[in-house]
Amino acid sequence: MTATQVSVIGAGHIGLPTAAALVSFGHEVVCAESDPRRLRILQDGGVPIYERNLDEALARGREGGRLTFVASAAVAARTAEYVFLCVPTPELPDGSADLSYLRQAAQEIGPSLLPQAVVVNKSTVPVGATHLVEQTIGRDDIMVVSNPEFLREGTAVEDSLHPDRIVVGADDQQVAARVGALFATTGAPLLVTDAATAETIKYASNAFLATKLSFINAIAGLCDEVGADVRDVILGLGYDHRIGFDFLRPGPGWGGSCFPKDTRALLHIAESANYDFPLLRAVIQTNETQLRRIVDRLETALGCGAPSVSEAQTPLGTSTIAVWGLTFKAETDDLRMSPAIRIISDLLTRGARVQAYDPTLGKAGGPVLPERADQIRQEFRADGVSDAKLDGFSLRTSSVLACEGASALLVLTEWQEFRDVDIARVRKALERPLIVDARNLLDPAAIRQAGFQYIGVGRH
Ligand code: UDX
Repeated sequence: MTATQVSVIGAGHIGLPTAAALVSFGHEVVCAESDPRRLRILQDGGVPIYERNLDEALARGREGGRLTFVASAAVAARTAEYVFLCVPTPELPDGSADLSYLRQAAQEIGPSLLPQAVVVNKSTVPVGATHLVEQTIGRDDIMVVSNPEFLREGTAVEDSLHPDRIVVGADDQQVAARVGALFATTGAPLLVTDAATAETIKYASNAFLATKLSFINAIAGLCDEVGADVRDVILGLGYDHRIGFDFLRPGPGWGGSCFPKDTRALLHIAESANYDFPLLRAVIQTNETQLRRIVDRLETALGCGAPSVSEAQTPLGTSTIAVWGLTFKAETDDLRMSPAIRIISDLLTRGARVQAYDPTLGKAGGPVLPERADQIRQEFRADGVSDAKLDGFSLRTSSVLACEGASALLVLTEWQEFRDVDIARVRKALERPLIVDARNLLDPAAIRQAGFQYIGVGRH
């Protein structure tokens, strides 16, 4: 059986795992990437983004000669029966989705598409945007379908190879079924529906996941006030098969390139449809509150027992804080909308000095990569931190070095290596034995045993 010819437009966190999975399902893939730096890395056999197992998955495709990379979307599309659009749909200032990249990709591929080719929109788009791609291409011999992705960064390859479900939305159910058949080897349930419903499923999924997280973060806050332990509350919830244990880890708040963007986009979609959605507003507001709660609890802990400070100086304004973790979650190098960046920005703005370590600063144990340091500083500037306040921020090349002389340690991301740190060395490095664990990563009893004051999120 000849392999199905597929092209993937956009070699990012969605496009590359999607291309790798389609090759592993037996198809032949040409992937287009417009960024010359990223394309050069791919054509030299490398991987330009941090995704677990992506290098092996791409290597398998390259070895079999069924995966190639080109610069032009038009070139990639002209031999394909199916063209997957995996381009960014970032957030505009008003919360709506920026569809300019999607429109540009549709314009580029339109003239070169084979007759009867199917364009598959994977990017997260507002309800109705699949028809925008149809109108932009403007050919009645081309079908456009919606096939939303449900990939988590860091596990996108795994999620692509073993999806929970395949959703395809199209006016023509036969075409939708053909697209679904591309993923037949996964054995995942296939839901064929119309485009608007498929697009709504994507937003509703992310909004529900964000709701689940805001709920457990709010419950953790309640636990702090009533003296309950959120870990056991989660156990008590999770045994109910209607609730389950997944996606209920309290934290500093949710971030990343999807939840913040998609929850606001869905709110924008509802408002544009004159639909009042107070629950979603509360989910977003709860997340903002959670970010501030972490800083407030650190400041309160610092204020208790610290040498009396002048009125003008808050406990934070006279403290150096050690921070573990900068990315929006562990197992990724992505800083976009990271809760850690938001929280550190707040600390810096309140006058604290911050010494941070993150496992993605450079090679393990090696120096901080200059371009990585610049990228991080750029995130703080984008978050409104002035250059003067940014002088109070520095990077360290290890978790213990970040603690040198600090008044407290703030754990913001849940890397396994933070669990394995020699806590006695941390105790020696810190000025004060205070740990605020915003990921409930560490064991409170063991940390207290080691002589620390431990503050978790709903933990006792
Ligand atoms: C999310 C959705 O999970 C995925 O299905 C969708 O396609 C894209 O958006 P992603 O943003 O990559 O994926 O990461 P995810 O693992 O969902 O985490 C999102 C945020 O929630 C992170 O800041 C993470 O730290 C936080 N989180 C996640 C928690 O605080 N607790 C949890 O239990 C899980």
